[in-house]
Amino acid sequence: MRTDRLAAAVDQDLERAARLLRGGELVAFPTETVYGLGADGLSGSAVARIFKAKGRPQDNPVILHVASLAAADGLYAASPWQAQALARLAEAFWPGPLTLVVPKTALVPSRVSAGGSSVALRVPQHPVALALLDAVGRPLAAPSANRSGRPSPTTADHVLRTLDGRIAAVLDGGPTPLGYESTVLSLLNDQPALLRPGALSRAALEAVLGQPVLPRVTEAGAKAATGEGAPALAPGLRHRHYAPDAVTLRFADLAGLQQAWAGGEAILCRSETARRLGPRRAPLIVLPDTPEGFGRALYDGLYALEAADVPLAWVEPLPEDGPWDALRDRLQRAVAG
Ligand code: TXA
Ligand code: MG
Repeated sequence: MRTDRLAAAVDQDLERAARLLRGGELVAFPTETVYGLGADGLSGSAVARIFKAKGRPQDNPVILHVASLAAADGLYAASPWQAQALARLAEAFWPGPLTLVVPKTALVPSRVSAGGSSVALRVPQHPVALALLDAVGRPLAAPSANRSGRPSPTTADHVLRTLDGRIAAVLDGGPTPLGYESTVLSLLNDQPALLRPGALSRAALEAVLGQPVLPRVTEAGAKAATGEGAPALAPGLRHRHYAPDAVTLRFADLAGLQQAWAGGEAILCRSETARRLGPRRAPLIVLPDTPEGFGRALYDGLYALEAADVPLAWVEPLPEDGPWDALRDRLQRAVAG
């Protein structure tokens, strides 16, 4: 299959993307977090193509993107508590980088929920995503637009790097503003629970809900607590993630980085640290010092390491600090491969 590169700013291209999606094809499009791989969210067969193109494990449900909370009417069945929390969070954070998990109705294909009884909903805050949702007139199922296990794409080039020839088109809307994924919050139980840390902080959620949000449990923690698998974990987090191809990543402290630097090995670190390493002598991926800047640049840095064609790269660990939580999670997963 040939993958078309379409320009989001060109009306005919946006219309073509919408037509392809209505016809059951896959089109990658920008959101404020990362590029999503879109399919008609009400068509089980279109959504099945997402799994095939990405090589996505069948047990990993996908997010349904909608134009507004009202556009999600009929897709979920909420208890009074759930409806109230949903309304409050939607009012405060939608459109935005927040995904809410609620009980689904029969309208949501089981392909979307990976056989489960819940659905993850999100209203993206990107003019192109919203224009596309409007033009398609249906919810769009969309995981990140990368082959499973690889870093999420923040540019159309990243999308083509792993999905060229496997999808109908990518709608190029430039680099995505936030650069890493939405926060996933479950409203399924009596207490809201974090399933994936992301671009929206847990503190912001708690402030709006006026109640604590359960921190993300680890798989081991969930097992210990419930004696079961990991019901409170986003299924996707069990799988390999964010790893650049053919590069082994390892964490190293400053002394370790300096040693690796002296030995001419590749490094990924923040600019403050890069300044301490001295003049450039090996592939050095320098990312901004702030969480916002770092988040925007991280996946591009991982793809750049891939392109540097080195077997091994040393990675600076991130601070154990609230604003870094989601990014530490991503980097740890990338290193764990
Ligand atoms: O920012 C984002 O969330 C991007 C953009 C494209 O919207 N999407 C994204 O999708 O990151 P994906 O599939 O790469 O990650 C979605 C996460 C996965 O960990 C998945 O397991 C979880 O959300 N998820 C989806 N539906 C779920 C459900 N019904 N229950 C629990 N977790 C769910
Ligand atoms: Mg993903």
